[in-house]
Amino acid sequence: MREDNQEGFAPEQGDMSAEDFRRFGHQLIDFVSDYLTHIEDRPVLAQVEPGELKAQLPKSAPAQGEPMSAILADVDRLIMPALTHWNHPSFFALFATSTSAPGIFGELLSAAFDVKAMLWRTAPAATELEEVALNWLRQMMGLDEGLEGIIYDTASVSSMHAVAAAREALGRRIREDGMSGRADLPLLRLYASEQAHSSIEKGVLTLGLGQRAFRQIPTDAEFRMDTKALAQAIEEDKRAGMLPFCVVATIGTTSMSSIDPLQAIADICQQHKLWLHVDAAYAGSAAIVPEMRHIFDGAERADSVATNPHKWLFTPFDLSVLYCRHMDILRRAFSVVPEHLLRTSEAETVRNGMDYGIQLGRRFRSLKLWMVLRYFGHTGLAARIREHCRLARLFAAWVEESADWELLAPVPFSLVCFRACPRLEGEDETERAARLDALNESIMNRVNQTGRAYLSHTRLRDKLTLRLAIGNIHTAEEHIQRIWQLLNEQKSMLT
Ligand SMILES: Cc1ncc(COP(=O)(O)O)c(C=O)c1O
Repeated sequence: MREDNQEGFAPEQGDMSAEDFRRFGHQLIDFVSDYLTHIEDRPVLAQVEPGELKAQLPKSAPAQGEPMSAILADVDRLIMPALTHWNHPSFFALFATSTSAPGIFGELLSAAFDVKAMLWRTAPAATELEEVALNWLRQMMGLDEGLEGIIYDTASVSSMHAVAAAREALGRRIREDGMSGRADLPLLRLYASEQAHSSIEKGVLTLGLGQRAFRQIPTDAEFRMDTKALAQAIEEDKRAGMLPFCVVATIGTTSMSSIDPLQAIADICQQHKLWLHVDAAYAGSAAIVPEMRHIFDGAERADSVATNPHKWLFTPFDLSVLYCRHMDILRRAFSVVPEHLLRTSEAETVRNGMDYGIQLGRRFRSLKLWMVLRYFGHTGLAARIREHCRLARLFAAWVEESADWELLAPVPFSLVCFRACPRLEGEDETERAARLDALNESIMNRVNQTGRAYLSHTRLRDKLTLRLAIGNIHTAEEHIQRIWQLLNEQKSMLT
């Protein structure tokens, strides 16, 4: 039996003592600092089998509290080996992202304050800082002031809310009457390129529009939405009695970071009075670099824009922003105010976050973004993004200069799509294609197994394609050189 109030244990009532909090808090900051400093000693990709961690943990919660020192020791002993280290500078898979010191501090403070930004009154600081930080970010990205921001957790959720607003903008009483059993409501249609992120289709499904409401538009040779095909699809659907209502353009598609032609898409949306939503989850951050601001040309005609500071703005997961030109419509789509939350004196003068989405309580996410923006400044953040793009171009140049490798897509940002393509003699095209796919898959798996880097893949024009995504705040030229060397070593061993 432990003695009450023993150091490191929970007291009989109340929270941890202030002395223990301070002591373990210092230890934890040391632990995090060591973790980040020595992260490269760890394998990027977790080297565990499914179920390995679960098997080491008790089946039920402890009846009596355990000492904090034992819990922290288990973080190190059990949790750490089961982590894939997203903060590792050689994490090049998916979209590489990273946290940053001011972002971590922001999360710590947000957990300490633990406010729920539902009403202005319940969290004035969170409500107002959100407006200020998003206004700063909007200006940094060169977006016009008609776009007002709101924070959600992920781009999937930001875009889903945009599609809900687009539906509400139709004025077809969907809020009041729903969509089912209505003879007066034709099939709604939303258009996005075949390279749009799966979250757009998920949003359509979540809102009960049905998979048939989602129409994919083909892309051109550079994976950009084919606007002729878009215009044709809309005309065709209208003739068939459907109700087009929204087009989603992507700036920086997931597989290869292509950029849909926003101006031409905006023309079509204007002509047909459709809601234009821009999904810039990954690449939106690049617009803070003055020479890349043009990626948002046309966004002045967009109804909404989603972007993720948690992807490429060194802000810890999660923080996604939806900029919307019609906050009143978004509010109409979601606001339900029960008696216990009725506002009194400040009624119409403040913004209440709960009115603009499905959540009631909302985390104080803006704090970490505000701290990141202040600590690095616009110039500092732009310099880091510019450097990532330089590293991507450098790697792409090595690929292009080598006879054994080829680029499979343009490199507008910090993502390189490529593959090994050594000469394979005496085979027909189909056999050669299958062997190249298998070769590239093996190269990727073997590089990942070394633990020294982590790459992922996609399929472009039916070719298995390796993706090198650069986005970590600590990634430097030496890491790019190392992955290039690793890839070449594995290729040489396999050919
Ligand atoms: C273009 C695009 N949109 C949306 C998403 C989904 O992002 P989230 O994980 O924030 O929902 C991604 C993720 O990579 C993406 O690349």
